[in-house]
Amino acid sequence: MIKMSLSFNTFIKLGANGELSKLELSSILEEFSITELKFQEWKKYLLLELSKEQQTKLIKSLEKSGSIIKAGFIELEEKVNDLNELKPKIIAYLKKTLQTLPIQKTRKIKFSINIQTSTITIRKQLNSIIKKSIYQTSSDLLFESKIRSPKKETSELSPYQFFKENFHKRGIEITCLVIKSTIFIGHLKWVTNPLKDIKQDEERPVRLFTHGTSIKLARTLVNLSKIQEGDVLFDPFCGTGTILLEGLKQNLQAIGIDRDPKSVRASKANLNHFSMKFPSKERMKDKWSIYLLDSQNLNEVIDIKIGGLVTEPYLGPFIKELPTKEKAKDTMTMLEKLYTKVLQKSVEYLKTGHRVILIIPEYRYSQDYSIYPDYQKIAKNCKLEFQTKSTLFNVKLPVQIGRKHNIINRKLVIYTK
Ligand SMILES: C[S@@+](CC[C@H](N)C(=O)[O-])C[C@H]1O[C@@H](n2cnc3c(N)ncnc32)[C@H](O)[C@@H]1O
Repeated sequence: MIKMSLSFNTFIKLGANGELSKLELSSILEEFSITELKFQEWKKYLLLELSKEQQTKLIKSLEKSGSIIKAGFIELEEKVNDLNELKPKIIAYLKKTLQTLPIQKTRKIKFSINIQTSTITIRKQLNSIIKKSIYQTSSDLLFESKIRSPKKETSELSPYQFFKENFHKRGIEITCLVIKSTIFIGHLKWVTNPLKDIKQDEERPVRLFTHGTSIKLARTLVNLSKIQEGDVLFDPFCGTGTILLEGLKQNLQAIGIDRDPKSVRASKANLNHFSMKFPSKERMKDKWSIYLLDSQNLNEVIDIKIGGLVTEPYLGPFIKELPTKEKAKDTMTMLEKLYTKVLQKSVEYLKTGHRVILIIPEYRYSQDYSIYPDYQKIAKNCKLEFQTKSTLFNVKLPVQIGRKHNIINRKLVIYTK
């Protein structure tokens, strides 16, 4: 077969918060020293051009990502006008691919076809070509195949379905992205596993719903901190310990502070539960400490250098109705002072060049207006550098988290010492 050159060889399906996914992906790719990259963004997809080695490394790294949904490799590229030339190419690609999959032993395989295009006729044509190619390849290779084909545009497998329907063991999702006049075809190599997070969430002894950061967001925040294995992650508002736990899972040490006794009991119970899973229980227990304290006095308990501060702090009182402008302003001023004081003290322990990953609130006080702590002023007062954009994909910081119409929204800020 003639090896043709592809414009892109990797596709990424971004999460519901596309900007956050791109920020996390940029951070992952920076770890492979990629600071420039050919890419195209289309709908919820990013197409990239990576080397073989980078592709392999990326798939491995995605295991620990929090905001990316799916990733795969592109194997074929064709012009929409040449649809009739596609079938033999798809058959050749499928033959090559099926022979490398573990399902070879059972010779039973499930296919899911994900065709992303707004043109119904192209979708129908592509669906028919791919289906026929699958049947022909399967019969040539003596595979028993079952096809889950798209009924409508939105019928791609959700990560939940992917694992529930055992696609990770016995299936393959063929992805077709039709971008302008070009069709990119490939299949998934990695999908986020929501069942793992659901299990972790259900298993942890204490969940305080008003105090919790989601597991996925916590994981993204920890990744963005770039704390090196063995270094200390510090969360001065640790709540139920979700961020600390994600840090421990990535072989970091973890120190947490909370002024609320119930939260301290909760985070200790959660981290203890996690530590019990390890045979060398005592060694895991040595890796974290949690203190009951007002974080403004953190110097009373911290006595070592920290590799990064990651926190979703106190975001102000819980409110159900739009606050007045004055009330919103007062709350923001109070929080700005609290964050400044805690960061000023923490920075003394933070290693130079290391990061602070901070969530700040944004209070809406009318249909069109909102207010948030002055993150630039906080940076200045704490001698931190505020990051304005991501290295790749042009993500502007801070990144908005949550829905626009919420009364209290959140923003993700990155500072460096
Ligand atoms: C949004 S929650 C943290 C969520 C946490 N990341 C988790 O996943 O559970 C904020 C926490 O900050 C604590 N807190 C508020 N003011 C504090 C202060 N001055 N010092 C220490 N902790 C404080 C609250 O008790 C609460 O548990």
